[in-house]
Amino acid sequence: MKCLPADFSSPSTRYQGSKRKILPWIFQKLNPLLFETAVDVFGGSGSVSYLLKRMGKNVTYNDALRWNYLNAIALVENGSFRLSEDELETLLRPVTRKDTNFVSRTFKGMYYIDSENLWIDAIVNRIKEIRGDQSSRKYKIAIAYYALFQSCLAKRPFNLFHRRNLSIRTANVERTFGNKTTWDTPFPVHFRRFVKEIHSHTFEGVHKCRASNYDAHELNSDGYDLAYFDPPYVRSGKRIETSNYHKCYHFLEGLANYPRWHRMIDSQNPLRSLRSDGDDAWLNPIKVSAAIERLFVTFRKSIIVTSYKKHGIPSIEALVKMLKRLGMTVSVHSRHYKYALNHQNGSAAANRECLIVASPK
Ligand SMILES: C[S@@+](CC[C@H](N)C(=O)[O-])C[C@H]1O[C@@H](n2cnc3c(N)ncnc32)[C@H](O)[C@@H]1O
Repeated sequence: MKCLPADFSSPSTRYQGSKRKILPWIFQKLNPLLFETAVDVFGGSGSVSYLLKRMGKNVTYNDALRWNYLNAIALVENGSFRLSEDELETLLRPVTRKDTNFVSRTFKGMYYIDSENLWIDAIVNRIKEIRGDQSSRKYKIAIAYYALFQSCLAKRPFNLFHRRNLSIRTANVERTFGNKTTWDTPFPVHFRRFVKEIHSHTFEGVHKCRASNYDAHELNSDGYDLAYFDPPYVRSGKRIETSNYHKCYHFLEGLANYPRWHRMIDSQNPLRSLRSDGDDAWLNPIKVSAAIERLFVTFRKSIIVTSYKKHGIPSIEALVKMLKRLGMTVSVHSRHYKYALNHQNGSAAANRECLIVASPK
């Protein structure tokens, strides 16, 4: 398929920090740069990788979370595989109670109502039964997971798992906001809609695209012409809960690791989130500068494009200095952007999304 740089439509996503809404602006800044191969190191929803694929680039998506990686297999790596109507019917046949019931037992009353927990257990068990040769099976499974993850997000207040707040959904109160219909729409209806959506966005890129699932520091430069960084947002003196992707999406990460979820879970934690050593440099105001600099050094032979926000740590000036120290030519672009859950202490007008573009000399 010919790439369509003017068409920025990417699937609807409910992902914290997604760049989906500003893809036309990012395209404007990327388009003049000379590159064929690119790596999207903190890929998240995959919206930027998908843009790069549409631009005809040879793109590698990466993210540390496995559920994001599965989404990217469906959205970025997949060129032509689809679930057939029969496969969809098999996945969505009525639920019986003989399926493994880890979600029903572990998360009762926390994120979904009982019948929905049963449905989630059933569908994960059915996804692993999808048949096909080795390559088609990989993509069909990823499409099914994509639809499952998006359905789970659609039915959650704030589209997150950082609170056990099922009661927001179920309480019998008068509401001034309109999400209740989406929350109460049955899982199979959402699932079908998201399968249709991903199918309509699937296309064969000009080059083969890939998805990977590594910590950013495990990647090597691999001769990419361009490296794109969109790391979690850290601010001094202010804990930004929604930058903690491990915590906000622990339930989906568990689903993506279903057979070993019981070993990964922190059963003492009220959210039943996944165990972590609590020492994530990308969330730590003291360690994050060194973590970014280390990546800049690894990719110093590539064009480095970094998405950033004002008031972050390190500051934009500090990032520019780091890149200049590596002998790169740097330009900074910025525009206003309103974030869904972060209103910059009540002043959305102060939000600025920045793009730092650095080229080796
Ligand atoms: C701001 S989001 C990226 C948003 C993405 N550009 C989009 O448009 O959806 C940051 C991403 O970094 C990922 N991440 C966090 N720590 C990471 C690490 N150490 N290595 C790789 N990815 C990481 C998170 O899972 C999250 O998806």
